[in-house]
Amino acid sequence: MKRILSGIQSTGNLQLGNYLGAIRNWVKLQNETECFLFAADLHALTVFQNPQELRHNTQEALAMYLACGISEERAALFPQSMISEHAELMWILSCHTSMGWLNRMTQFKEKAGKQRDQANAGLYTYPILMAADILLYKPDSVPVGDDQKQHVEIARDIAGAFNRAYGVEVFILPEFLGMGPATRVMSLKDGTSKMSKSDPSDASRINLKDDPDTILQKIKKAKTDSGVFPANPDETEGRPEVKNLINIYCALTEKNPEFLYQQFGGKIFSPFKESLADVCVESLRPIREKFNHLMAHQDHLNNVIGQGVLKAKTVAEKTLLEVKEIIGLYKG
Ligand code: AMP
Ligand code: TRP
Repeated sequence: MKRILSGIQSTGNLQLGNYLGAIRNWVKLQNETECFLFAADLHALTVFQNPQELRHNTQEALAMYLACGISEERAALFPQSMISEHAELMWILSCHTSMGWLNRMTQFKEKAGKQRDQANAGLYTYPILMAADILLYKPDSVPVGDDQKQHVEIARDIAGAFNRAYGVEVFILPEFLGMGPATRVMSLKDGTSKMSKSDPSDASRINLKDDPDTILQKIKKAKTDSGVFPANPDETEGRPEVKNLINIYCALTEKNPEFLYQQFGGKIFSPFKESLADVCVESLRPIREKFNHLMAHQDHLNNVIGQGVLKAKTVAEKTLLEVKEIIGLYKG
C-alpha cells in the first residue's frame, strides 16, 4: 500500500484553504493509502506562540483532521514534537543541505522580508525540518497546497544528496501531490494573496470553526468589484476576487463553473453570494459539529493521538537508526 504524509502548522484557526488545499485531499486518499498526518507544532515556533495556546491549537488541529473526515483507523495522527526523531534527523540533514538551496526558498524571503538579519534561524532552516518530517516516514507522496511545492522539492534534493553522499538508497524521493481545483484559495479581501490563518484580518478567511452567521457575514462582505457576475470564463479575466469566489463554490460543490455563469451571469453579486454562503455553511456544518463533539470528549481524542504517536514512533525510530548506522554515529 502506498503511503502519504502531511501536516499543518498548529497556529490555530484552521481555515477553508487548509481544508480544500490539504485536509479534504487526505480524506480522499485515506482509503487507498497509509496516512501519517501530524500537527506541525515545531514549525509553529518559527513565530512566537503563547505556550497554552500552542498546546491547545495542536490538539485542535488533530481534532479538526478527524472532524473533516480522517478516520482514526486509517491514519496515524500525532503532534510533530512528540516524535523527537524529527528534530534529530533535521540536524543530520542540515549537514547535507547547502545554504544556496535555502537562499532560494521563496517562503523565507516572504516571511523574513527586508529584515533578514532579524529573522530567527528557525525560519531559515524550516525547510530542513520539513524534509526530516517527510523523509523519516518514506512516503510515496506529500499532499499539500501549491505554496508547499518548493518545500517538497528541497526535501527531494536533500534526500538525493544524502543518498549519493553515502552511496545508499535509504531515503525515498517523495512526490509533491497537488490535487483538485483549490490548491490556492485566496483571501476574501484581496484576491491576489492567499487565504491564511495568520492574516491579521479575520474577515479575510472562513475559519473551519466559524458559525453560520459569521460565514454569511464574511461572504456578504467579501470583496468583488463594481461589475456584474460574469457570464463566461473570459469575463473573469483580471478579476481575482471574483475568480476566487467562483473557485471556492466549485471546489466545495465539486461542480463545473458553467452553471454559475448561466444562473448568475449579468446579475449583481448578492444572489450568488447568498448561494455561496449557503454552500459554505452546509459544507462546514457537519465539520464544526463533529469538531465540537471531539473536543468535548477529551479522553477519546487523547487516546486517538496516543495511538498515532505509537505508530509514528515505530516508523521514525527505525529510519533514524538506519541513518545513524549509515553515517557512523556511535552505537555504544
Ligand atoms: P499552513 O496553514 O500554512 O500550515 O498550511 C497547511 C496546508 O494547507 C498546506 O498544505 C498548505 O498548502 C494548505 N493551505 C494553506 N492555505 C491554503 C490556501 N489558501 N489555499 C490552498 N491551500 C492552502
Ligand atoms: N510547512 C507546512 C505548511 O506550512 C507544514 C508542514 C510541516 C508539512 N512539515 C510538513 C507539510 C511535512 C507536509 C509535510 O503547510
